[in-house]
Amino acid sequence: MNILVTGGLGFIGSHTVVELIENSHTVVIVDNLINSKIEVLSHLETLVKQSIPFYQIDLTDEEALTQVFEENKFDGIIHFAGLKSVGESVEKPIEYYLNNLVSTMVVIKLAQEFSVGKFVFSSSATVYGDQDSPLRETLDLKETTSPYGETKTMGERILKDIAKINPKLAISILRYFNPVGAHPSGLIGENPNGIPNNLMPYITKVAKGDLKQLDIFGDDYDTIDGTGVRDYIHVVDLAKGHVAALELVESGVHTYNLGSGKGTSVLEIIIIFQKVNSVKIPYKIVRRRSGDIATCFADVTKVNDELGWKTTLTIEDMCRDMWNFEMKFDNSTRVL
Ligand code: NAD
Ligand code: UD1
Repeated sequence: MNILVTGGLGFIGSHTVVELIENSHTVVIVDNLINSKIEVLSHLETLVKQSIPFYQIDLTDEEALTQVFEENKFDGIIHFAGLKSVGESVEKPIEYYLNNLVSTMVVIKLAQEFSVGKFVFSSSATVYGDQDSPLRETLDLKETTSPYGETKTMGERILKDIAKINPKLAISILRYFNPVGAHPSGLIGENPNGIPNNLMPYITKVAKGDLKQLDIFGDDYDTIDGTGVRDYIHVVDLAKGHVAALELVESGVHTYNLGSGKGTSVLEIIIIFQKVNSVKIPYKIVRRRSGDIATCFADVTKVNDELGWKTTLTIEDMCRDMWNFEMKFDNSTRVL
């Protein structure tokens, strides 16, 4: 299939481009580079040993995007593009609603006009709000803690309305849990701007010595060791989940959790990261972070049964590959 990958130079999009091409699909990338660098394209091309068509376009620009659809015939779209910082979305709600919702509406509108058969949407576990894990796709969605989260809930709703008027369209809504890791080649990965907010990128910077220590946000949760428990998923496993959804989902809206189904605590992550990479992670326990929940992990029964997809990579793999990517930066150009 020929697939339009929006946000294809970003963290998850770039890894999915590799999996798509390795599974004999062809890819066209659209990205406005608001949170990625053009060098990612050449790193991708090195990895897949072919050139990849790329358009630097903002998806909210319907006229420019229409031209892309006129120049290419797409069988499917994977829509990754969006702004994703929870904290920033609280500061800049309008930017988040505008960018994430308008881009989704423009892309799905053109998908219909140009009779594209398949659409895959990047959603998030954040749409569940604070509910007991394991989280199943059948749960009612709760108010999320941020405008970012609301753009995901609203994006899902928009797609469900589209499905009502276009029942043949195959729509996959994929709710990611905590994507981490990097490609084992070390050529692509994630490098957030400034000081990272999320655990794994923060640990990596502490291990490298760029940051002094990790602040653990609370050790008094009702969890195995008192620290927060999350469902971490290697970005390469996550990317494979997109290929499965694209290839297997038929008409209608189908919602799947993409997670491992297992929870890991902050202290467990620190121990594993130190061990596999032979580094030291100094840490100190501080107050809970506002808005955090104790535990969040997926029920993956539906995606296992219907798509035959499950994670194969371990927390050890995630820690090793993130560190490998971080270390390559010292020797070459860092790309994400
Ligand atoms: P990312 O920021 O690395 O990638 C997103 C890409 O989209 C970037 O390259 C950015 O330049 C591009 N983009 C943003 N707005 C655009 C626009 N208007 N037009 C064109 N390009 C635009 O993020 P990611 O981690 O790869 O996340 C991909 C998707 O998955 C996002 O929708 C995100 O909300 C969702 N998601 C991510 C996580 C996570 O933890 N990484 C978790 C759940 C859901
Ligand atoms: C983040 C997002 C959430 C998204 C999810 C999956 C935020 C605020 N929330 O949440 O919307 O759905 O990823 O992508 O970004 N921790 C520390 N110290 C740190 C950083 C984190 O102790 O410096 C702890 C947290 O309290 C939590 C765990 O590590 O228990 C994971 O945190 P993080 O990586 O930010 O992910 P989420 O909280 O799941």
